[in-house]
Amino acid sequence: MYGVFIYRIVFPTPVGTVRVIQENCAIGGYYIPAGTIAHFANNTMCRNPKYFDEPDIYEPERWLRESNTTLKRRQSFIVLPFGFGPRNCLGRQFAEHQIYVAVIKLLLRYRIRLTNPDEKLEVFYKILATLKTPLNLQFEERNNNR
Ligand code: HEM
Repeated sequence: MYGVFIYRIVFPTPVGTVRVIQENCAIGGYYIPAGTIAHFANNTMCRNPKYFDEPDIYEPERWLRESNTTLKRRQSFIVLPFGFGPRNCLGRQFAEHQIYVAVIKLLLRYRIRLTNPDEKLEVFYKILATLKTPLNLQFEERNNNR
């Protein structure tokens, strides 16, 4: 769950969890026949002010229990980048550990800065979230002999 902050701002998949409804049912007053493909719009909900105050602001503190947040700010069930339930992502732990190990190794060795901090980075979806333009970074080697 510790990566949830980043996945809200840039949701990794274009829509969110998808399921084929197995039985005729009624949800929220809507009749849904079996066989309907249901898309949970996690991606758009993550940036919707109805659920998150100032949704475009990166504010990881909003998730802290002790912060002055309302329940509205703690919509963790919306931020489901790896899906949910028995068919959720099998590789989640593997993927997250790989990401953290790679980032930590880089940060131990380099100070990393954006070449142009004012540049607005835009994302589009090529199956998964992808940057429109290259991410230009400056790497300055640290003198700690690691
Ligand atoms: C940041 C990287 C990744 C993201 C965001 C991601 C996301 C997802 C999502 C959203 C699903 C569908 C879950 C659902 O419908 O509830 C899924 C399924 C799956 N993922 Fe990942 N995934 C990632 C990395 C990986 C890796 C590295 C592996 C394998 C080593 C993997 C293996 C799988 C498998 C096998 C399923 C199908 C599970 C099933 O249908 O029972 N994923 N993933």
